[in-house]
Amino acid sequence: MRRKLAAGNWKMNGTGAALDALDAIATAHPAPTVDILICPPATLLSRASQAILGSAVTLGGQDCHAEASGAHTGDISAAMLADAGAGAVILGHSERRADHAETDAQVCAKTRAALEAGLIAVVCIGETLAEREAGQTLDVVCGQLAGSLPDGITGNQIVVAYEPVWAIGTGKVPTLEQIAEVHDALRGQLVGRYGAETGHGIRLLYGGSVKPGNAAEIFAVSNVDGALVGGASLSAADFSPIVTALE
Ligand code: G3P
Repeated sequence: MRRKLAAGNWKMNGTGAALDALDAIATAHPAPTVDILICPPATLLSRASQAILGSAVTLGGQDCHAEASGAHTGDISAAMLADAGAGAVILGHSERRADHAETDAQVCAKTRAALEAGLIAVVCIGETLAEREAGQTLDVVCGQLAGSLPDGITGNQIVVAYEPVWAIGTGKVPTLEQIAEVHDALRGQLVGRYGAETGHGIRLLYGGSVKPGNAAEIFAVSNVDGALVGGASLSAADFSPIVTALE
């Protein structure tokens, strides 16, 4: 049985004042029946880890370097994220694939590094609008999945987030049938590659314009184990109903 996960990706948003929203989210869900993960900017991780002490919220980073340490100005290692209070890290988000030209192979190396540091890796995949319109969606996402995940993993180490690029921050959402088609294909691929136990243990999140108003119907879709939420994770007023819809 996969435990559901409501994850928030704050992206490049938030200074110290944003910790109030984190506190409000934690306070609203003292004993949730689902996992709650918030990924603030790295600059907030240490303070955020103090703010959520004793709560049910887990923190995550938004990227890590594939190496453990070294001459990589501006980068952050997985062990550093863990040291700052993270229990997870988002990897291969489409904004990083686009802004930093991250490849599947690099995402795979980062995923290995995250697992070695004891972090849960939330690995993102998703097609562009042009790819969807060309009928390439399943080929693209299955290819990204194959290339971004290493061998030899277990189900509770990895979360996969399907985020159609065209649905991120746009208010556009795929139909429930389109979400089901992708998630079912991803599940089949994971079971085929890793076997039934691991393949069924990996949680599959949907991400892209998830809001309080559409969360419940998305969560009812087959093989949707939760959401990776961007804009609506920045305030408790928006994120909390999404958590509740998942419970
Ligand atoms: O990682 C979450 C994200 O890309 C979705 O963003 O703002 O459409 O919920 P948003």
